[in-house]
Amino acid sequence: MTASNKITITTPDDWHLHVRDQEFLSSVLPDSAKRFARAIIMPNLTDPVTTTDRAEEYRNRIIDALPNEYKLTFEPLMTLYLTNRTNASEIKKAINSGFVHAVKWYPAGATTNSSQGVSDIVACYEVLETMQEEGMPLLVHGEVTDPNVDIFDREKVFIDQFLTNIIKNFPKLKVVFEHITTEHAVTLVESASSNVAATITAHHMLLNRNALFKGGIRPHHYCLPVLKREEHRKALIKAATSGSQKFFLGTDSAPHTKNTKENACGCAGIYTAHGGIEFYAEIFDKADALNKLEAFASFNGPDFYGLPRNKSKITLTRKQTDIADTFPFGDEVCVPFRAGEKLAWSID
Ligand code: NCD
Ligand code: ZN
Repeated sequence: MTASNKITITTPDDWHLHVRDQEFLSSVLPDSAKRFARAIIMPNLTDPVTTTDRAEEYRNRIIDALPNEYKLTFEPLMTLYLTNRTNASEIKKAINSGFVHAVKWYPAGATTNSSQGVSDIVACYEVLETMQEEGMPLLVHGEVTDPNVDIFDREKVFIDQFLTNIIKNFPKLKVVFEHITTEHAVTLVESASSNVAATITAHHMLLNRNALFKGGIRPHHYCLPVLKREEHRKALIKAATSGSQKFFLGTDSAPHTKNTKENACGCAGIYTAHGGIEFYAEIFDKADALNKLEAFASFNGPDFYGLPRNKSKITLTRKQTDIADTFPFGDEVCVPFRAGEKLAWSID
């Protein structure tokens, strides 16, 4: 299957994606739909997706915004935004809907549009109990929000203060530690039972924190969790390419307008959907692990979520293509990852 310049794999899925809303949807959805069969859609809209009814309305807006050619080939997998007030009956309704596939825990204040997130996880224990019983995955933004904790340590401190307890108190709960960025997170996931997994972004495997300050401040490399040291980047690549079923693809592609990124208080988020699978091919190729890409991108995610693997295939070729400086984003523009440079791999 693998000639060194070409690889054909089962069509991948993106297990962590932000597509925003309204006029922005049609600007970004084609990039994801071209590459992925399904995507877990993050619920952190300005007005967050806290109920099944809102998830259904959001899902309909996404499907409406998809170009016709993708309406039947791309499936948005919806998520609920957990708050202190979410109750168990809402969770049961979500499970019965068939289109809500997970519940997202944003610690209040941790990232973009998280102010209505969870300030007291103990208040959510009944909900977590229900999710554990029903096999509904909890997706975790794993950073503490305490301003006294150094921003580069917030993932590790979250593990020690929160995640370890949750895993101990809910031993059968399906947990996805989202966009992990540290060796500590890799170790936690590896040592936990099979119902604990993690997504890994391409940008956290391509860049270390020096990229934030290369020759000047680089707002387009700012995301949350923030980029980490080189030793952590290496640990992520090792985990992703290890063949372990616990790690899978989640781009965390998170578009913001150029204006809100290039700003005295720039937003967190990196847009990578234009190379959603290609960046990973580059990483796996460099690690001499292209033969592990299909499991990471196309098997481990659906297996964990209890969904069927995709039947279709895509082919990636080692061929450089240009990345635009900007692309239209609603009435404004967005600066994609590696703007003005190249993709090392291309899809046919
Ligand atoms: C995301 C966003 O912009 O919605 N930003 C980011 O830096 N990753 C939110 C998130 O996933 O933390
Ligand atoms: Zn995200």
